[in-house]
Formats: sequence, structure tokens, C-alpha cells
Amino acid sequence: MADLLEMLDLSAEFATRLPDAEEITAHLMAAPGLRPVDVLRAAALSGRPIIQPRCGVGGHRQMVDLLQGLAQAKPGMLSVTIDSYTRLRQFAVAARVLREQPADLNGYPLVTHGWLRGRELVEAVDVPLEVRHGSPDARELFAVSLAAGISSFEGGGISYNLPYSKNVPLAVSLAAWRRVDAVSGQLAREGVLIDRELFGTLTAVLMPPSISLAVTLLEARLAAEEGVGCVSIAYPQSGEAHQDVAALRSIRSLSQRYLGPGVEVYPVLHEFMGPFPRGVPESDALIMYGGLVGRLGGAAKVVCKTNQEAHGIPDVQANAHGIRTAALGTSDLLDFVRLDDDRIAEEQYWIEREVAEIIEPVLDRPDLTTGVVEAFARGQLDVPFSASVHARSEVVPQRDHHGAIRYRNVGNLPFSAVTRRHHVQCLANIRSQPLVEVLTADVNYFADARAWRSFAPVVEQQPHPCVDNTD
Ligand code: 5AD
Repeated sequence: MADLLEMLDLSAEFATRLPDAEEITAHLMAAPGLRPVDVLRAAALSGRPIIQPRCGVGGHRQMVDLLQGLAQAKPGMLSVTIDSYTRLRQFAVAARVLREQPADLNGYPLVTHGWLRGRELVEAVDVPLEVRHGSPDARELFAVSLAAGISSFEGGGISYNLPYSKNVPLAVSLAAWRRVDAVSGQLAREGVLIDRELFGTLTAVLMPPSISLAVTLLEARLAAEEGVGCVSIAYPQSGEAHQDVAALRSIRSLSQRYLGPGVEVYPVLHEFMGPFPRGVPESDALIMYGGLVGRLGGAAKVVCKTNQEAHGIPDVQANAHGIRTAALGTSDLLDFVRLDDDRIAEEQYWIEREVAEIIEPVLDRPDLTTGVVEAFARGQLDVPFSASVHARSEVVPQRDHHGAIRYRNVGNLPFSAVTRRHHVQCLANIRSQPLVEVLTADVNYFADARAWRSFAPVVEQQPHPCVDNTD
């Protein structure tokens, strides 16, 4: 059986600091307590999503305290959010800042602290941990995470490149993540299921659902090719309930169509990732709304926000409050809430159709990795607002009257005439304004008063503007 550490192609010097592959696998197998995949399975069965906060601080003792403090708010999963130096493999810089000014780190430098301390984090709480980061090449971080006994790991070769890096070629990030997936596949065959969460949030603002889902499904397909047995497909809340519920429900149907039965798939909602309101009541309302939408959409997990989002990284109290507030949104208290099923079905029809139009030409290519790289080069795959030179970012999104995200400009996406016409119709009766003003207002939909003034998505009775789905 191939050696896990060799599969990651780590330097000999790095590999000697880790336990050997047998020990890592044995430790993962023997892991006491709940594993990430256990809580996801239970959540999927119960119909109530678990809640997960983001959290990471530089110092080890402080990180243990943070995890234990947050565990009191009863999250279903906790995060080890990694600092930016570690994300970029600047391990020496992370080590220096940790020595000199640990509070300056914006997350936990797991590689620097090492796998033994990682195991202490796992043992500090009764809640499974996930490593969340943003690395285009996470091979070392993955090795240390596995050695620490952490079996949930976020990221992918597209979704952890284009939003975070200016000039890392997709071929480079895809090759690095293929190794992570290959190791996950090998572990799955040995009986250890690694939960691989795919970051459909991408650049986080005004992400058209079909772009998010197209990217995560392609990443999931690449992962499945390597034998990965469990993926969490994360979708970012747009803010329009019917669209969000439809997108979450599409994850199940699209996965069945494109991944087959060999992979466990868990839909995940990332609560609204754009600019948050500055006020506490509005923030709390938005956080609770995210929990509600996650439950209505059948998410297994909701990654929550805090009412300090507009002000920076949250303190432990605000983070715990965010967990409880999101959990309230998933509670039976709101069981009376019903959405318009026809509108959801309409949204789902278009989302699934658009995803098919985007990904099927790529899936038809003989080599999927090459197909992804070439499609991005031609703009046939695209991500709006990317800082990366490897995405064209010709796509321009815009909110419709209800706040749902449509395509104002489809760029070079390979959409049919019918799909294009649909988006033109959805945006037809919107007052014309300069593009910068429109986009600024749409990005700040929840940060300024607009969403709150017209904010009644659950009880909305107005006719939907996009009812024409004739082919
Ligand atoms: N702790 C908690 N939240 C974090 N985020 C980023 N780093 C951390 C951290 N160390 C959150 C931001 C934002 C999202 C992108 O991640 O506050 O909500």
C-alpha cells in the first residue's frame, strides 16, 4: 500500500517531523468520540443542520480555551481556522510571529505548533474538528492535520485558489489538491472517511448559485476520481430564500447525477459571506435567517456568522452567541414557516439547467484537470470578482427585485439562448443605473437598509418576475 506521506510528496525534512503513515492511520481509526462524518450523517438523518463557527487564534493555550469556550454553545463541529502565513506555506514566518507576537496571527498555525499539539486540540473538546484555511497548496497542512487526528479538511484546487491567490496557476493548485484527494481516497479504502468540504463560497460576493455549484461539483468529481468517499458541498447564502433553498436542494440531485452512489454528499450552507450590517439586531436576524434557510434547504451543516462580522474577527462571546442564534433558526419554533414551492421548483429548474450547461462540456473532456484549466482560460468556466489572473471574471452578477442573484453578463459561459433570455427577463424591469452603483448596492444588500426595507422573503406575495421557463 502506498505511503500516505510519500503520496503528498513532502520534503524529507518535513516528513521526518511526522509519525509514520501506519501510526497516523491507526490513530485516525482509533479516534475516540464522534468523527465529522458521524455528525454529518446524524444531521442529514434528523433534518436539522449542525452549526459550526469559524475560530482560530495564534497561541496554543488560547486556542484550547477558545475551543472549550465555544463548545459550551453546543456546535456540531468546531473549526481550526489557520493563519494566513501557514496558508501560504510561509512556515518560518508563522513560527517567528508565533514567538514574537502570537496575537498578530489571524488563525492557528497548526504546522508550526505541530501534530502533537493538534492532538491536544482534538482531545480538548467532545466536538469533531475541521481544518479551514484557504491554501492553494495544502499538502503539509493536510499531513499535520491527519497526524493530529483531524478528519475534516476544507478546500479544493479551484475554490482555494481563485478567491485567495493572484497568480497561482490552476494546474499547480489542482495537482496539489489531487494529492490531498488521493490520500483521502486511500484512507477511505482503509476504512477512515475524510470529510472533504468544497468551498463553494468562492469570492463571497454575489456568487451566482450555478457558478458555485459548477465549481464544487467539478471539484467533487475530481475528488471522486481519487476515491474520496465523503464531500461536503458548501454553498454561500445569497439572501433570497427561494433561490437559496433551491440551490441547497440541487446539491442532492446534481450529486446523484454527476457523482454516482460511491460518494457521501452533505449540503452545507455558508451563512451570508458579503458585507454584514453593523448593527447587532440586524446581524442577529441575518444569522438566524441563515439557520432557517439551511434547515429548509436540507443542509447537513450551517457555517455561522457573528454579530461582530462587520467589525473583524469575533471574540469568543460573539462567536458563541452566533452559534446559538443560528441554531435558533434551525429549531422547531420556526416549523410553521413555509416557502412557495412553485418558486423553489422554478429556481431549482434553472440552477440545475445552468450547472449542466456549464459543467457537461468540461466533463466530456478526456482529462478533467486539463479540461478545467482550459475552460477557465477561455472563460467557459468563470468566477466573478476574482483577483486571480487565471479567472477572466467577465461574468457580472446582479440582484433582481426580490434580491435573487442573476447574470447581468454571462461572459463566455457556454449558456444556451434560453438560459440567457431567462436572465435578461429577470433583470428587465430593474431601473437602469450605472453599473458601479448597481453592484455597490447589491453587494451591500444586507449592510445597508435595502434588504431590511423589503425584507419579507418568507411571506412575500408579489408575483415572481421570472415565471417564463418555456424552452
Ligand atoms: N476566527 C474566527 N473567524 C474567522 N474568520 C477568519 N478568520 C477567523 C478566525 N481566526 C472569519 C471572518 C469571516 C470569514 C471569512 O471567516 O470573520 O466571517
